[in-house]
Amino acid sequence: VSTKWTADQIPNLSGKTAVVTGANSGLGWETALELAKHGAHTILACRDATRARDAVDRIRAVHPSAQVEVVPLDLASLQSIGEFSKRLREKISKLDILVNNAGIMAIPRRTTADGLEMQLGTNHFGHFALTGHLLDLLVASGAGRVVNVSSLMHRRGRMQFDDLQGEKRYSAWPAYGQSKLANLLFTTELQRRLSEARLPVISVAAHPGYSATNLQFVGPQMTKSSMMEFFTRIGNNVIAQSAAMGALPSLYAATAPDVKGGDYFGPGGLMEMRGYPSRASRSAASQDPVAAKTLWERSVELTKVDFRALANAA
Ligand SMILES: NC(=O)c1ccc[n+]([C@@H]2O[C@H](COP(=O)([O-])OP(=O)(O)OC[C@H]3O[C@@H](n4cnc5c(N)ncnc54)[C@H](OP(=O)(O)O)[C@@H]3O)[C@@H](O)[C@H]2O)c1
Repeated sequence: VSTKWTADQIPNLSGKTAVVTGANSGLGWETALELAKHGAHTILACRDATRARDAVDRIRAVHPSAQVEVVPLDLASLQSIGEFSKRLREKISKLDILVNNAGIMAIPRRTTADGLEMQLGTNHFGHFALTGHLLDLLVASGAGRVVNVSSLMHRRGRMQFDDLQGEKRYSAWPAYGQSKLANLLFTTELQRRLSEARLPVISVAAHPGYSATNLQFVGPQMTKSSMMEFFTRIGNNVIAQSAAMGALPSLYAATAPDVKGGDYFGPGGLMEMRGYPSRASRSAASQDPVAAKTLWERSVELTKVDFRALANAA
């Protein structure tokens, strides 16, 4: 990574198509803005129609000629993910960039429409299923990229394979750590399978360090903790970097020409919390091939998405 890489260095993306999940807010919005600004036909995959329309308007206000549109997606519903895949095919016939960005953090235990624990369900299983549905479109690109957005918090994560859904024991932060560790294990295992099948798609990861977004407020608001909200506001104002800076590692991973399958990028400054994109460090647990394979198998079993494009190529 060259020093001080900024969004100005994104290559011309005319003729390319991109999907960004959770593109109505925070890092996802900044990512969609820059991809669209550099010419990509950019699809905002969002669960709330009003917030999504507003996001499109805010992009068009900056770049009136941006080719942006919304396709509804709720990652907490496998049915919605299937419908998203169908609707997307009415608009595009190949996908160059998929940014698996949407996420929720440290919320009280909730379940998805399919009964999965909400953090692992949204952050990992939803994106696993989405990627599986879209893999043939990524292959059709001839040079597809999947970017999974993880976190520094993956280092705190442990895969609880005997209680993945937190039914026996649940704590909000460990469940978040597990979901972000899962993002990296998925990145690795997907890359391994893509290489083995010799498909023209790479799987990479990025994290934004600590960036001021809405993410940190969802948990405190759900638990009605005004104290946590207060400290969150201070942290976001004093320590965090902007969402635009936080989106750079994702943008680098999605567009820089020298990116290779399995790469992981994050901010290069203070403890990887802020700064320009650089290679990021990852925990030993995130490189465990057995855990990566086990997670893949459990994900297929729970989502019923089997990555047919991989099987067809093998
Ligand atoms: N900010 C940080 O410091 C930080 C640090 C490490 C990692 N990350 C990661 O960065 C990613 C983006 O987070 P952010 O900081 O930009 O937070 P954010 O501003 O809260 O954005 C999160 C996005 O995810 C969407 N989302 C949540 N659940 C969804 C679902 N079921 N279906 C579809 N979309 C859903 C949200 O939609 P709604 O607006 O409808 O809720 C929102 O658009 C996350 O994966 C997060 O784990 C962030």
